[in-house]
Amino acid sequence: MGGGIAGTFHVAIIMDGNGRWARHRGLPRTMGHYFGAEAARRIVRAAAGAGVTHLTLFGFSSENWRRPKVEVDYLMGLLRGYLRKDVAGLHENNVRLSVIGTREELAPDIVRLMEQAEALTARNTGLYLTIALNYGGRADIAAAARHLAQEAAAGRLDPAAIDEATVAGALPSAHLPDPDLLIRTSGEQRISNFLLWQMAYAEMLFVDRYWPDFTAEDLAVALAAFKRRDRRFGGNV
Ligand code: IPE
Ligand code: IPE
Ligand code: MG
Repeated sequence: MGGGIAGTFHVAIIMDGNGRWARHRGLPRTMGHYFGAEAARRIVRAAAGAGVTHLTLFGFSSENWRRPKVEVDYLMGLLRGYLRKDVAGLHENNVRLSVIGTREELAPDIVRLMEQAEALTARNTGLYLTIALNYGGRADIAAAARHLAQEAAAGRLDPAAIDEATVAGALPSAHLPDPDLLIRTSGEQRISNFLLWQMAYAEMLFVDRYWPDFTAEDLAVALAAFKRRDRRFGGNV
């Protein structure tokens, strides 16, 4: 069903609208995040059965530190809970977990839990689940540029030989195929610094529903809409 690399189907999701979901119910924003985490669990469970081979969830952007400390702390607590409680179940279900984003600014215990989860599930062959945490698309591209510049300065890389494949290969997410489909919930229609380089030819679908309300049924509807799209990659065939 996918596109890019034969046999893969990569769906990336900007899980947006937790705060508004809560506000509409007169609840604190943190409750929106609590139910947003439940929605993420639901969609991870549904994805493999729906034909998705790679699922990438935007959990926390490098800009989200600008939010009030109580909200940031709550989000980090949810993440800690997910890494502590859900990884065994993911492993049983043959899910391979990886995390993209800058690790330096995260709490050391969270980084340790992430590394343990990645190591535990590294040889699994089912759904390839990636969580984008403290992630920014521009930071990703800057990291690739830094790495290539270091290689060139060390004499290991000829600058004239740098092409798109070299840059793609130097991205921290180089192990992932490009997303075939981007879904953003909450009605907002923007990329918000998600996988900028990788989304060159992603189909985009903006869903008018807050993330905590997003169901397996909504995912199925989105995938059906994707199937009806005519992807051309610049050709006219
Ligand atoms: C998405 O929901 C979750 C994160 C960004 C962590 P928001 O918290 O952005 O919810 P809205 O967009 O304010 O409704
Ligand atoms: C993008 O949502 C980040 C995540 C969903 C984790 P935001 O709510 O932070 O994006 P903006 O601020 O509306 O662009
Ligand atoms: Mg938002």
